[in-house]
Amino acid sequence: MITVGLMTGTSADALDVALVDFSVQDAGQGSSTGDELVMELLDHREVPFPDDLSRDLLRLLEPMSLPLSLVADVDSRLGIFSADTVQEVLHTHGVEHALVVSHGQTVQHLLDDGLVRGTLQIGQPAWIAEHTGCPVLSDVRARDVAAGGQGAPLASMLDHLLFADAAEPTAALNLGGIANLTVVGPGRAPLAYDTGPANALVDVMARRITGDPCAIDRDGALAAAGLVDQPLLDALLTEPYYRRTAPKSTGKELFNAAYLDRVLAEHPDPGPHDVIATVTRLTAQTVAAECHRHGVTRIVVSGGGTRNPVLMDELRRALGPSVALEPVDVLGLPGSAKEAVLMALLGWLTWHGLPATVPSCTGASRATPAGRLTPGDRPLDLPPPRTHLPHRLRMRQPSETQVSAEGDT
Ligand SMILES: Nc1ncnc2c1ncn2[C@@H]1O[C@H](COP(=O)(O)OP(=O)(O)O)[C@@H](O)[C@H]1O
Ligand SMILES: [Mg+2]
Repeated sequence: MITVGLMTGTSADALDVALVDFSVQDAGQGSSTGDELVMELLDHREVPFPDDLSRDLLRLLEPMSLPLSLVADVDSRLGIFSADTVQEVLHTHGVEHALVVSHGQTVQHLLDDGLVRGTLQIGQPAWIAEHTGCPVLSDVRARDVAAGGQGAPLASMLDHLLFADAAEPTAALNLGGIANLTVVGPGRAPLAYDTGPANALVDVMARRITGDPCAIDRDGALAAAGLVDQPLLDALLTEPYYRRTAPKSTGKELFNAAYLDRVLAEHPDPGPHDVIATVTRLTAQTVAAECHRHGVTRIVVSGGGTRNPVLMDELRRALGPSVALEPVDVLGLPGSAKEAVLMALLGWLTWHGLPATVPSCTGASRATPAGRLTPGDRPLDLPPPRTHLPHRLRMRQPSETQVSAEGDT
């Protein structure tokens, strides 16, 4: 079963793609451990958006009134870009048919007193189905919201399966536009939530300093040129979101340019380099506080923020020496591919009739399948539903590749 996962997060920087081959190793009768899902990552790419699409995606993420025609236009353009990207990847690998899972771009994650009222992802899947002939799973968050959940963080399912055997309190951390954390460990139900901004406010300042609407603080150079302003940091830390209890989720509806301006307006402006140094530390400090809250001793980190050495140094310092911080790559899963792999996993689970969400993490009343299916060039032909969720997920080791035909489903 070849699955293509497509992801674009709140940073709207690139379309992340993963081509994944899943197989199940049946545990056999009497096994105490259960089935194992084995994953081979055949390809992964970060395909940057063309400048005009990137600019329009970012416009949709800032809270302002925009014409509905822009939403419809970007919906199609992202759908077409996704279709072209999938076609290219499938062609490279000589794969004719696959399940495509497309997250799309979240343009609204509507919250009302902690409850999600609606979540909207765009990137019309019809283009992908029509141009590639493949079935497409899309709208992967809405069902969890309809079941009373946050529709986030969906990574909790992947983390929960990847770290099923964790021997110590472990956190999987993703530093995208927003930072999200999944905490797993022996004898506890997994929990997961967004801790607050990761790169969202850093990106705002990088764009202000450089005048480039798509700039990032590459290698942390801008933050390294400033000093943390403690009164500004203290003011930022009074944000009520940090004190809300999980389950909770957030997005650029809260942590955006206007948000930062409101805090700066009540504060003598320390200068842009000091502001970017301060919001970089804000991320490190809020993430570390949540890890300490759960007594985490190991953190496995992914996402674009791992490429910012200033942020990573700040995080290491805030965590202290008793917490091990390592990239998810140590598991054989490249950090830049993790969220696209997550999409592929949600697709595999839904395709096989299995739940794709973890209610203790999203806050939903029950575990639901994810998304809706668009047929490709032939009718949907789903396999017989599986009755049990695999016990854990692991990456296929290179040494196993020769025997990969055995035991596959
Ligand atoms: N070389 C780098 N140096 C500093 N920051 C980086 C670098 N590469 C990526 N980033 C940060 O990571 C963000 C993208 O991370 P990503 O995990 O793709 O987030 P999202 O899931 O929100 O799209 C960029 O907006 C930027 O802030
Ligand atoms: Mg991204």
